[in-house]
Amino acid sequence: MKVLVTGGLGFIGSNFCRYMLEKHPDYELINVDKVGIGANPANLHDIENDSRYTFIKGDICNPQLMSRLIHQVDAVVNIAAETHVDRSIADPNMFLQNNTLGTFTILEAIRRHNHKARLLQVSTDEVYGEAIEGSFTEETPPRPSNPYSASKAAADMFVLSYHRTYGLNVSITRCTNNFGPYQLPEKLIPKTVIRALRDLPLPIYGKGTNIRDWIYVGDHCEAIGTVLEKGKPGEIYNVSASNEKTNIDIVKTILAQLKKPESLITFVEDRPGHDIRYSLDSSKLRRELGWMPKATFEQVLQSTVEWYLKNEHWWTPFATDVILHPTPWKLGGLR
Ligand SMILES: NC(=O)c1ccc[n+]([C@@H]2O[C@H](COP(=O)([O-])OP(=O)(O)OC[C@H]3O[C@@H](n4cnc5c(N)ncnc54)[C@H](O)[C@@H]3O)[C@@H](O)[C@H]2O)c1
Repeated sequence: MKVLVTGGLGFIGSNFCRYMLEKHPDYELINVDKVGIGANPANLHDIENDSRYTFIKGDICNPQLMSRLIHQVDAVVNIAAETHVDRSIADPNMFLQNNTLGTFTILEAIRRHNHKARLLQVSTDEVYGEAIEGSFTEETPPRPSNPYSASKAAADMFVLSYHRTYGLNVSITRCTNNFGPYQLPEKLIPKTVIRALRDLPLPIYGKGTNIRDWIYVGDHCEAIGTVLEKGKPGEIYNVSASNEKTNIDIVKTILAQLKKPESLITFVEDRPGHDIRYSLDSSKLRRELGWMPKATFEQVLQSTVEWYLKNEHWWTPFATDVILHPTPWKLGGLR
């Protein structure tokens, strides 16, 4: 099987490429990534010379490139996206282009040039919007709160419509907040480690009571692989591991591990449209496809923090923005 992975130099993409090559020795992967904000070529140094792996620097919004690549593969796993909510508030257009039009370009390339290719669209729990109580199922209508989640929800709608209208073989995964190695330092967990190590204040939006449902990136990669292989065409699968934590709890746990004082925590004005809680019901994926998360939250949070401590050379080139600009949405765009 030959698979085109988009956004494979980012956090989830790089973990997914490594997972797939380990799990399926007979698979070939093409990774197309524009080497944008979330990318780090160092994420995949260890597989760069693997004969089953090819990297192509390119944009999923380029129709010629997508047609040429999709023509050669059996499946596409679309992981590429602009992903930071704060940045989407500062520059929404970039999110519409990359997330919605990028997905549309892939769908068109499949429709026109390789109708049999399977598409796995990697989406997010954020498309459902805020969960005041209970947990969202796949039947819950999307109600995105910010330009990032709106751009992902719009992409999902195109994906489903290409199944209904043109019969494309598509499935969607919607996952909760990921953490683990190789995550861009502007996200909560690596940012907390990096700033705490330098004894810098840790800005927390509002009172830090926003709840996110966390999942280890390895479990997410396994879920993507499972849905790619066994998911039904036209179906959505929620992915979650039932680890609902407030942001302040996550930060305090990391500070305790690093033996840094809680006085580093500073509360800053909340960002607009900040969802108070996300929560997913992933029983469909567990029941129908037999996926189960394997990681124990406390253990993998600890090992993730240790990974950042051991791999300072990896994140140092990315650390400047994180140190200088902890809350990007106020800056009217960073780049
Ligand atoms: N991180 C999470 O907690 C989380 C949770 C659920 C879903 N997701 C979804 O998973 C995907 C990956 O998230 P991530 O955290 O790894 O992001 P990331 O920012 O670390 O990586 C995104 C990658 O996509 C690439 N990219 C962006 N636009 C592109 C384009 N037009 N053409 C080619 N490459 C492009 C970037 O260069 C980068 O390498 C996203 O679709 C996101 O919505 C993420």
